[in-house]
Amino acid sequence: MGQLANGYGSFSDDGKEYVITRADTPMPWINVLSNGDYGMVLSQTGSGYSWRTHASLNRITRWDQDLIRDDWGKYLYLRDAESGAFWSPTWQPCGTTLDGYRVRHGMGYSVIEAQREALSSSVTYFVPLDASCELWLLRLENHGDTPRHLQVFTYLEWLLGAAPDWHREFHRTFIETHYHAASGTLLATKCLWELPTESASHWNRSWPYVAFLSASLPPVRFSADKRDFLGRNGSLHAPAAVQRGQLGNYAGRWGDPIGSLQLDLTLAPGEACEIVFVLGAADDQEQALALAARFKTPESLRTALQSVRDQWDGILDQLVIETPDPALNLMANGWLQYQAIVGRLLGRTAYYQTGGAYGFRDQLQDSLVWLLMGRPEATLDQIRLHAAHQFQDGIVLHWWHPLAETGMRSDYSDDLLWLPFVVLHYLYETGDWGCLDDSMPFYDAGAASLKDHCLRAFDVALRRRSARGLPLILKGDWNDGLNAVGAFGRGESVWMGHFLHFLLCAWADLPLDDTETQARFRREAERLRAAVNQHAWDGEWYWRASKDGGGLVGSSQSSGGQIFLNAQTWAVLAGTAPPDRAQQAMAAARKRLYSNYGPLLLAPAYAEPDPEIGYLSRYAPGIRENGGVYCHAACWAVLAERTLNGAQAAYDLWRRFCPPLRGQSPDHYLAEPYVMPGNVSGPEAEIPGQGGWTWYTGSAAWYLRALVEGVLGVTAQIDGLMVRADLPDDWERFRIKRAFRGAVYDITVRRAVGDEQPGCRVDGDLRPGDVLPVAPPGTVQTVCIVVSK
Ligand code: GLC
Repeated sequence: MGQLANGYGSFSDDGKEYVITRADTPMPWINVLSNGDYGMVLSQTGSGYSWRTHASLNRITRWDQDLIRDDWGKYLYLRDAESGAFWSPTWQPCGTTLDGYRVRHGMGYSVIEAQREALSSSVTYFVPLDASCELWLLRLENHGDTPRHLQVFTYLEWLLGAAPDWHREFHRTFIETHYHAASGTLLATKCLWELPTESASHWNRSWPYVAFLSASLPPVRFSADKRDFLGRNGSLHAPAAVQRGQLGNYAGRWGDPIGSLQLDLTLAPGEACEIVFVLGAADDQEQALALAARFKTPESLRTALQSVRDQWDGILDQLVIETPDPALNLMANGWLQYQAIVGRLLGRTAYYQTGGAYGFRDQLQDSLVWLLMGRPEATLDQIRLHAAHQFQDGIVLHWWHPLAETGMRSDYSDDLLWLPFVVLHYLYETGDWGCLDDSMPFYDAGAASLKDHCLRAFDVALRRRSARGLPLILKGDWNDGLNAVGAFGRGESVWMGHFLHFLLCAWADLPLDDTETQARFRREAERLRAAVNQHAWDGEWYWRASKDGGGLVGSSQSSGGQIFLNAQTWAVLAGTAPPDRAQQAMAAARKRLYSNYGPLLLAPAYAEPDPEIGYLSRYAPGIRENGGVYCHAACWAVLAERTLNGAQAAYDLWRRFCPPLRGQSPDHYLAEPYVMPGNVSGPEAEIPGQGGWTWYTGSAAWYLRALVEGVLGVTAQIDGLMVRADLPDDWERFRIKRAFRGAVYDITVRRAVGDEQPGCRVDGDLRPGDVLPVAPPGTVQTVCIVVSK
């Protein structure tokens, strides 16, 4: 059964799992599991890696970023002790054909089920909420009529530090393994950690954790030596130790360190057994052994799993969206939120990009997702974290590493403005004006109110303008890949002009009690609008940027990149464009940029690297920002369509890059149908329409916002919740239930029946206008909006 099946898999009936039924998906179809500290990534072949706190600086297990082979991971082997036959319960590493192969990626867990002859297996993987470890539950059942004598082996390679470990022969000599026989736990430590800190301890510190691997069934043998396990020139496909059915009991300070435990068991006909494996990185040995002991029983594992599932249900239940579109409902009732939260905020890593750092603009934007989930305090936590990575002079770190607390002072023009942008949306959502007075530290020294942090960002942005009043682009703006356009400090950004204009106007309208600043912001907004319209109008659309030498980017005069999406969409979103230009600019975007699988970031693609543009022009034509659908920016186009042309236009565009729909042609689209890709290749690519760079993309949170605000028309405002009621052409109704300022708004928008009059009723009473006022906390507001037929 399932929903939106495509030959490789489908969504479960309740939409909460994506069920893959073939191991040979066109690319890895993964899940990210993390509690915000410890995490793991798992593909449908059973491959993947684990980390603690930072997926690149503190990787626990080795993994190689080879998405085609996808053959690095933490694996299990099963061996029939009598016949010597062996296989793995996941497709990798043995590649044995298994019956009934099923991978269920759920929210907070994954399960891989298979059967080989009369023995069925399932492995459940997850990361508990409150411990720095992952748990695997291996369940085996003998469906045959003879007893089975079985052996189970684990296999993983310890990394314990910065990934990739490019000098493994050097690094492995610092790793020490130890078998703790009393508890059957394999322990691993490392006395060198290459952490990019500014202090002198860079090459002179120990890895301060203890990695461990334990099993609930007492291991009969162990090995921490790769040569023992694989054999000289051996392979994961058929390791020597598994072939001979015996590990060599090696551990110590030699060899190439791995984690292998051997368990022996017998299953009578009809008998089943469950084994818990715990893999983690504890603060010390005592904690490691305590965690191994805590999860000794399947019951303790199940309790921890239930807590994970309850937590996700609690988060995801906060936003309910019911429309006539099943693909939309699937993405909107869980998968987008899950991707944004676990992939971008908690784990910050995936397969196409392995990360761990925070991007100043990136995770701030991602944290907007919490505003739709009734958890604005989580957005405020993110705001606090980022404010603490701003210098007193207003400039911020472009990105920084947790653990090392090092980062890069930003030369990008836009980074610092995302702080007032996200604060603004937090304020719309909460009305928590008091937060502006909260004192927050700067990265260098001292502290100031949140408002002051934001005003310092504005001051820098306002100062960094050209003689004719347009913002300088510097090393780039939102579009990182435009990194050469203004590297010498003269090039300008028109998108920044729109963005800053939007922020100045919005902040000028906040109830700030600061008439002087607000009057200044209004004046500056006016000047900016005038400058953009005087200088940046190309005739039919806005150009995108000017180079240090004065040449234009995104102009009809350009050879590559004649028109850029963001310069048009933000002219509408920011109100910079007068109405006729707004129409013209979006008409040009529609004509030149809209493909039937989404709006392109620019067209035509750059055919050759242009040293005056930057790395954007160095991508192959049609790939990523060079003329692909860049989903993050595509979401802004949905919002701009809504502003200009209503719900149908927004919905039409939103659907064009909706993953479950694109995933209906999986061999063409390639990417997971249940998460956003960062990009979809454009018409000039070798194969247009392929999705890539999944999971680690800022488009997850924005795609949800584009849906709620753009398609459904529900927007938080200073004075209440605005519902611009409008229905896509073939919808009769939709329902959205969302939290707002402590109350729940259960809103239905539907077409009039018979001679019914359009209008809005709150709890049965007619209400004029399209802004629902702030309701008492704890109440449920039932809203029914009838629109004309
Ligand atoms: C990448 C960056 C992001 C940037 C985007 C567009 O996704 O992480 O910060 O805005 O590219 O260039």
